Amino acid sequence: MKEIKGTTAVCGLIGNPVEHSISPIIHNTLSELLGIDLAYVTFRVENERVGEAVNGAYALSIRGLNVTVPHKSAVIPHLCAIDPLAEKIGAVNTLVRCAGGYKGYNTDMPGLYRALASEGIALEDREVLILGAGGVGRAVAMMCAVNGASRVYLLNRTLEKAKEVADEVRERTGRDCIFAKALSDYRSIPPKPYLVIQATSVGMFPHVEDAVIEEQDFYEYVDVGVDLIFNPAKTKFMRAAEQAGARTMNGLKMLLYQGILAYELWNDVKVTDEQAAIVYQKMKEAMNIHE
Ligand code: ATR
Repeated sequence: MKEIKGTTAVCGLIGNPVEHSISPIIHNTLSELLGIDLAYVTFRVENERVGEAVNGAYALSIRGLNVTVPHKSAVIPHLCAIDPLAEKIGAVNTLVRCAGGYKGYNTDMPGLYRALASEGIALEDREVLILGAGGVGRAVAMMCAVNGASRVYLLNRTLEKAKEVADEVRERTGRDCIFAKALSDYRSIPPKPYLVIQATSVGMFPHVEDAVIEEQDFYEYVDVGVDLIFNPAKTKFMRAAEQAGARTMNGLKMLLYQGILAYELWNDVKVTDEQAAIVYQKMKEAMNIHE
C-alpha cells in the first residue's frame, strides 16, 4: 500500500458506476514503477453534477481525471480547452489540468491505435470492417479515417445510424472512405479478409454466449478480429473468428494504453514497453485471466 503524504498528488476517475474499474490498478502501478508520488482513486458522479465535479476537482488541485460512461460528452462544456481529436470524436476520457481549468483529451482511440501497433496491426491503407455505430463505433470509424484506412465498412443493426455516422466522419475528416451497411447485409460487401473491429456491447459479461453476428459464414471475412470487449477475455465473436482461422485480440490492451497515454499527459513522462508489460500483467491478474 502506498504511503499517502502531504505532497501526494491525486488523480481519479469520474463516472457512474466506477466501483469495478480497473483504472486504479493501471495508474497506481505506474506510479509505483515510475516512483511518482500520486494516488489514483474513483469518484462516482451523478449525471446532473458533472459540472460541479469538474470545478470542484479543479478547486481541490486534482492533477487530472479520467472520465467514463456516462459522462464522456457531458464534461465537454465544463472544460477550458479541448484537443482537436477529442473534439472530432465528440467524447473526452482524460482531463489535464492547465491554467484556468482542465483541457479535454480522448486517449481511447490513440490507445486502440497503440494497442493495434503493439500487435503489429497497421491501419494505413487497410480495409476495415467495423461492427457497431454507437459511441464507440463512431469513434473507431473516425480513428480509421484519420489514420489512413483505405476503406471502412460501418455495419450497424440500425442502418440509419450507420449512415449518419458515416456522413459525419466524411464531413469532419474530409475523407470519402466510409460506407454504411446494415449488419444483416454483410454479404453485399466484397468477400475478402478484413481487419474487423467489434465495437458493440454484444457478448459482454454476463452475455458470453452472444455474438453480434451469429452466422459462421461471416467470419470468413475476418483476417484479424479485434473485440473491444475485455470481459470475457475471449468473446464468442473471437471464438468464431478463430474457428475461421483468424487472429484475434480483445480490448484489454486498448484499456492499458488509454491509461498509459493519460498518465503520460498528467505527469509529462514516457512509459516504457517493459513498464507497460508489467501493468498489463497486473491487469490480467486483477481480472483473473490466465493464458
Ligand atoms: P457505445 O457507447 O458502447 O457504443 P451505444 O451508443 O448505446 O453504446 O451503442 C451500442 C451499439 O451496439 C450500437 O451500435 C447498437 O446498435 P443499434 O444502433 O442498432 O442500437 C449495438 N447493439 C446493441 N445491442 C445489439 C444487438 N443485440 N444486436 C446488434 N447490435 C446491437
